[in-house]
Amino acid sequence: MAILTILVVSLLAGLSMFTVRGASDDQLEVYSWWTGPGEEEGLAAMAKSFEAANPGVRFVNAAVSGGAGSNAKAILASRLLANDPPDSYQRHAGLELLDDVRSGKVQDLTGLYHQQGWTKVFPKGLVENLTIDGRIYAVPVNIHRANLMWYSPGTLKDLGLPGPPKTWAEFLQQAETIKAKGRIPLAVGPEWTQKHLLETVLLGELGADKYERLFSGGISWLSPDVTAALATFAKVLAVSDVKSAAGDWQPQLDKVFSGSAVYAVMGDWSSSYLEQSKKLRWETDYNVTASPGTDGVYDFLSDSFTLPTGSRRPDLARKWLVECGSADGQNLFNPLKGSIPARTDADPGLYQGYLDWALQQWRDPKTRIVGSLTHGVVANNAYNAEIDSALGLFVQHGDQGKFARTVEQQYRETQ
Ligand code: GAL
Repeated sequence: MAILTILVVSLLAGLSMFTVRGASDDQLEVYSWWTGPGEEEGLAAMAKSFEAANPGVRFVNAAVSGGAGSNAKAILASRLLANDPPDSYQRHAGLELLDDVRSGKVQDLTGLYHQQGWTKVFPKGLVENLTIDGRIYAVPVNIHRANLMWYSPGTLKDLGLPGPPKTWAEFLQQAETIKAKGRIPLAVGPEWTQKHLLETVLLGELGADKYERLFSGGISWLSPDVTAALATFAKVLAVSDVKSAAGDWQPQLDKVFSGSAVYAVMGDWSSSYLEQSKKLRWETDYNVTASPGTDGVYDFLSDSFTLPTGSRRPDLARKWLVECGSADGQNLFNPLKGSIPARTDADPGLYQGYLDWALQQWRDPKTRIVGSLTHGVVANNAYNAEIDSALGLFVQHGDQGKFARTVEQQYRETQ
């Protein structure tokens, strides 16, 4: 009986493997963390265009929910370890790609770049962030901005506030008025949103040069400037709702637009959520400004797609990457996603409201561009993970010195 059961189970397993493998002949599994309003529609628009260009091929959306890839990245890591990659997966431009490249998990796309003429249509600095040891490893679909502060003009008016704060010192002053009127000055969400906040406070307090040098080892986490910036971060967090933080970035923003909180620092994926899901209008119902101290600085990140080693259909995956890198694909995706195109030749007329402003800022030669910490640009994965653990403890116990010493030491250990 036992032998019979084993035989039947093996036969079924064999059959199901056969079914999956058989089906995978004309399907492409694409992995991301885009399940929220706006981002889901943007991905679906590109998927539809990909299917239309490749009749008979099915786009399998393998998205895993959780802002900033908080769940998706962990599940992807176990799939990559088991040599069971999707046919293409989302990564950020920057040092986030390094592990995949060093461990041979992704294929070199330099040839595809030349074939498609992409080195001429993507900004040079962006291509540099996708290049490791002279080879290019991912195709960028967009540009996002991280250093933004979102608010309701109506709430500011009700509270008699003249406008959003231009510095963190001014924010802390406003926070006193806001608290006195029974509201929360700043809404935060889960740990990654707190790191996102830390990144913008560091950028605002240190300025772009020192921010960059901090993440390239040029200045110490124990230096007086960084010590002062971290003290500001602790004060900012103290006037936030961190003790009852929202579960993700959408409910974090909801607190601002229900009026219980006044500000939230978040990336510009917020714009599509606020417009499409909440039906709010830019400048009237919601507004946004550079996070305090960062006017004229664009803290960028870029969502990109890879060709994993072991993709079942590398031919189709390449076609998907062509969709991602094409002007048509980017123009379908970005207006829905709430991001601007990575390509420099996209049609600016498609980007309205907040996105028009974002595009102007991105393209303004006077804008200073720096890379995001939380979204993969300036720190490798090992260092980022160490910052996560140390920050979790800092937020919980408030030991700033321990945080700075740990992160300083981990920088050296993770390079
Ligand atoms: C970022 C990603 C964005 C958006 C955001 C919130 O890491 O680049 O596209 O998904 O997380 O989930």
